[in-house]
Amino acid sequence: MRWLFAHLLPYKARVVIALVALSIAAASWLVMGQGVKLVVDEGFMADNAARLDQVMLVVLAIAVAGSVAAFFRFYLMLWLGERVSADIRNEVYAHLLSLSPAFFSQTRTGEVISRFTSDTTVLQTVIGMGMSMALRSIIGFIGALVLMLITSPLLTLYVLLAVPVVMIPIRVLGPRVRRYSRLSQDTVANMGAYVDESLHEIQTVQAYTQETISRQSFANLVDKVMEAAEQRIGYRALLIAVVMAFSISAIVVVAWLGARSVLDGGISAGELAAFMFYAVMAGGSVATISEVLGEIQKAAGASERMMELLDTPTQISSTSSQQVDITQHSLTLQNVTFTYPGSGEKAVLQDVNIDIAQGQRVALVGPSGAGKSTLFQLLLRFYDIQQGAIILGQHDLKTMPLKQLRQQFALVSQEPVIFASSVLENIAYGRPDASKEDIKQAAKAAYADDFIGKLPDGYDTNLGERGVRLSGGQKQRISIARAILSKRPILLLDEATSALDARSEREVKLALDELMKDKTTLIIAHRLSTVVNADSIVVMDEGKVIAQGTHAQLLNESPLYKQFAELQLVS
Ligand SMILES: Nc1ncnc2c1ncn2[C@@H]1O[C@H](COP(=O)(O)OP(=O)(O)OP(=O)(O)O)[C@@H](O)[C@H]1O
Ligand SMILES: [Mg+2]
Repeated sequence: MRWLFAHLLPYKARVVIALVALSIAAASWLVMGQGVKLVVDEGFMADNAARLDQVMLVVLAIAVAGSVAAFFRFYLMLWLGERVSADIRNEVYAHLLSLSPAFFSQTRTGEVISRFTSDTTVLQTVIGMGMSMALRSIIGFIGALVLMLITSPLLTLYVLLAVPVVMIPIRVLGPRVRRYSRLSQDTVANMGAYVDESLHEIQTVQAYTQETISRQSFANLVDKVMEAAEQRIGYRALLIAVVMAFSISAIVVVAWLGARSVLDGGISAGELAAFMFYAVMAGGSVATISEVLGEIQKAAGASERMMELLDTPTQISSTSSQQVDITQHSLTLQNVTFTYPGSGEKAVLQDVNIDIAQGQRVALVGPSGAGKSTLFQLLLRFYDIQQGAIILGQHDLKTMPLKQLRQQFALVSQEPVIFASSVLENIAYGRPDASKEDIKQAAKAAYADDFIGKLPDGYDTNLGERGVRLSGGQKQRISIARAILSKRPILLLDEATSALDARSEREVKLALDELMKDKTTLIIAHRLSTVVNADSIVVMDEGKVIAQGTHAQLLNESPLYKQFAELQLVS
């Protein structure tokens, strides 16, 4: 709750106005009670029509003032609810972007998305409606109590005796509501994750005719949501009912005592009317508070989860923001040993030593699972290595600001990444300020211009989620165009041309040759034709560098490379 309140601080002025409006609204209700007393005692009982009219007008005026105040209270509190949850969303999203890939390989994105949407929505309603109702009720309760005291101390005493009794169910049931609220939100997140996974892989789901099984699994998850919700709702309904029963009984008893007091001449009928008005108001307030407490418990559950996300430490971060001078883009790996976090003892890379001079073109070859793509991830510092060092120019990666480090690399990853936006935006991803002309130039260089021209809206065509409207080779060419346009000094190509037919591959390779001229380049490839011209070829197997040299040297020296080369020449 303190965490939530902290988010209200920037909007102090609005909070204050809302509180003032709230107090005015509550006060007008309280004054209304006095009106009731006057109507009964001075108008009704005294048979004074003129006075009755007068008092009635005043009561109406108060009602109008109260309603105007209610408008501001509602508007401002709802606004604050939206605002605070919007701020929390921004905060959490910004934090998510800073988390390392290790976090996302251990968490389901769908679950995070669900937390994001459903938990912030809970916070929004609670701040907007819940807090406003709670505050109004608290003020109403205190005010009503004070006026009750003034009207009849004795009757008030009876009411006060009842208050602790009413509080018992709140104490007992509140924590349960909260626990089940959290559970309920967790099951919703689980369900969200499942939808996300299955819908993204819809073609596989349908190809393997898994619809029935998927539907069943999903129905089970929905049942879990329902179960958790049932528990929560059960406790909440019980809470409200018990509180209501207690407070209404208390009111009835007090009314009965009051009526006897009127008969005895202890208080006037108007006083009893006013007192009952207040007692009902106080009772209603307690009921509202207990209802809202359920909501607030729910919010507490939701904020716990949001805070958990925010508290997830950023494993990879810059140690200094001091930009370093990079005079040359050479890369040196010294005794690099690396194990993926949370995947046991087995090192994915072991004692790897590689030297790449500025402007050199180095190819990485080796069987699947050798650790080639992992090496790229380490260069971009998505993970920190356990032993050894990676040096860019003269600087250890860990001493460079993360942003500056990553800006040195243009990556074409093994699986081309396409965002659900236009071709233009996809290519300009690495350099958003690029002109349309530059973008087209890059597309031409990547031999993408031709097929882009044939798309329904050319460069403005929306490529659909994950680029579903493109073929594999087309996606690769868009990624290459993106890398070309980004004009970064070091190129990392991970199977960049693997999905292209022989002709387009040759064309793209010509373009890449042009691009690689003055750049340090690392190429991962399974095809011999891609690597023969490299300045140096590194052969990797099971996380180790087992040979390094030119094509001619390796044919003589490395049996694995020889085998790799021969297999491809035969076919
Ligand atoms: N995020 C990860 N968490 C744990 N282990 C991983 C992760 N990514 C890859 N690995 C493991 O690391 C090893 C090396 O994977 P890597 O992707 O580097 O291979 P690769 O040489 O690029 O293979 P390929 O040619 O098939 O792309 C594999 O055994 C793989 O199981
Ligand atoms: Mg790979």
